[in-house]
Amino acid sequence: MQPSGGRRVVLGITAGIAAFKAAELARLLVRDGADVQVVMTRSAGQFIGPMTLQAITGRPVRDALFDPVHEAAMGHIELARWADVILVAPATADFIARIAIGMADDLLSTLCLASGAPLLLAPAMNQAMWGHPATQANVAALVERGATLLGPDDGDQACGDTGPGRMREPAALLGDLQASLVGARFAGRRVIVTAGPTQEPLDPVRFLGNRSSGKMGFALAAALTAQGAEVVLISGPVALPTPRGVERIDVESALQMRDAVLAELPEAVLFIACAAVADYRPLEVAAHKIKKEGTSSLKLELVRNPDILAEVSARAERPFCVGFAAETDDLEAAAESKMRTKGLDMIAANQVSVSRGFGTDDNALLVIWNDGRVALANQPKTQLAVQLVDLIADRFDAQAATKNSG
Ligand code: PMT
Repeated sequence: MQPSGGRRVVLGITAGIAAFKAAELARLLVRDGADVQVVMTRSAGQFIGPMTLQAITGRPVRDALFDPVHEAAMGHIELARWADVILVAPATADFIARIAIGMADDLLSTLCLASGAPLLLAPAMNQAMWGHPATQANVAALVERGATLLGPDDGDQACGDTGPGRMREPAALLGDLQASLVGARFAGRRVIVTAGPTQEPLDPVRFLGNRSSGKMGFALAAALTAQGAEVVLISGPVALPTPRGVERIDVESALQMRDAVLAELPEAVLFIACAAVADYRPLEVAAHKIKKEGTSSLKLELVRNPDILAEVSARAERPFCVGFAAETDDLEAAAESKMRTKGLDMIAANQVSVSRGFGTDDNALLVIWNDGRVALANQPKTQLAVQLVDLIADRFDAQAATKNSG
């Protein structure tokens, strides 16, 4: 386990009966060496007194967004930047719902929105509230954006019910937090991910594009952030929210994507090219809308776009390069050939069709590297991304170990 010593922990407390356990959690964190700042919602004060928490942590408890005294010392945005990690325990159904829709109507929800720090949530509520589809949808949305769920546990509840919804015990939550620190396989490392389609303009209103939704690339960005990476997500036009803690650069065309990737390259140790980049673009972009009057057909001349991934991989100083291969036939052979010709460290191949790979929530991947391969079964892209990031981390670490011993 990695002690939380030296880490700056915002301990968020919301209004549930389990709030009384937050005092013990704060004590364990302080004993482990963490610098703890408690932030309570106003109603949490009904369940536990701020003075108790101040005495344990040595810091005045914060509970107000508009507090001239505290804002003068450390404003809420500074506090959002100060945090290495935000742990909300207990997290009530109401609080989870508010942050799931991006509310920022008190200090704690504002911090969750403004901070790029990992967000750990320890839910505590009645079992029926936990099982309600609304709560489950809110939790799923937060996890998809990169939040980590700690619990809840199953058992007797304060209301007399039995079932899932108990907050995990403070010692278990400390262990979870320590594990989340040790599990950060890309801690502090800069990673570039491309995602989504590119759109190649034909005239001011038309473009050539493809069916990529960005779901796979965005899921990878969230999974990498959960592993401590500083992720730059360079995305073509998609309708997806930016995962928590991710820096996003929006582009439209392949040429813009190439410029953005090359500009970010110097700091990056890992490049994952998940975008479906158009191989061709119209030679000429019409200045005015192309008219159909008086024509029965239209001929377009297309020119090749630069291959961003091949260009990055060919550099002398280059990050670990992971490509994707979208294939309709001969998946394995085509992916191996792409890996060789583009000089990649790893390739993730997917069989694609109108209803498979592009735009779907689920996918399957065949992941290939120089001396191994693994088939990842069909599953939600969010889970697939977690597994792929694990495989990449294994190969990345192995390559670093070889370089160091050589
Ligand atoms: O976005 P989703 O709807 O979730 O769908 C995910 C996906 C199907 C788009 C994704 O899983 C995927 O397969 N992405 C790569 C799609 C693709 O363009 O594959 P390709 O075989 O044409 O390209 C091979 C590799 O070279 C890719 O890593 C691609 O990003 C890269 N490339 C291709 C052309 C180019 N000009 N520059 C590149 O960098």
